[in-house]
Amino acid sequence: MNKITLIKVSLTLAAATCAVAAGSKSSRDGVFTKAQATRGQTIYNEECGKCHGQNLNGGEGAPALSGSEFLAKWQGKSLNDLFEVTRATMPADDPGHLSRRQTADVMAYMLSANELPAGEKDLDSSAEALKDINIESKK
Ligand code: HEC
Repeated sequence: MNKITLIKVSLTLAAATCAVAAGSKSSRDGVFTKAQATRGQTIYNEECGKCHGQNLNGGEGAPALSGSEFLAKWQGKSLNDLFEVTRATMPADDPGHLSRRQTADVMAYMLSANELPAGEKDLDSSAEALKDINIESKK
């Protein structure tokens, strides 16, 4: 294989990988319901607020979960990425005890706190559904 062919192959592979990684939906599309965000808020207040602040604005040693810095960090990643980090490592003082359903509810609350719009359907907690949603900040 000469160099040009090799570059072409790499570019094709990179494009294919991007196509797989990019979901067909965006967090701007109303991917959770208001009721779900309210359920998530209750969980957040009990499990997360003591470290991340009652308004998701961060606290001693824990980063903010809302605002431009948070969104810039997660921009372009999928909701599944954020979900996995949360489910595997949070709450930091007792990781992994939230169910997938509860984690999805907390996600919904985080999206709503980042001024993303609610919609008609609850955020699904399956990895497949979450991978299909890209994180984007509000318009
Ligand atoms: C005991 C304190 C504590 C609690 C409770 C806690 N967190 Fe965290 N959280 C942290 C710390 C510290 C970090 C930073 C970890 C790191 O950077 O390695 C973090 C990081 C995160 C991140 C990654 C943020 C980013 O932009 O990288 C998310 C998302 C998150 N927490 C969500 C939650 C949720 C949701 C809950 C409640 C279910 C929760 N956390 C409860 C301390 C806590």
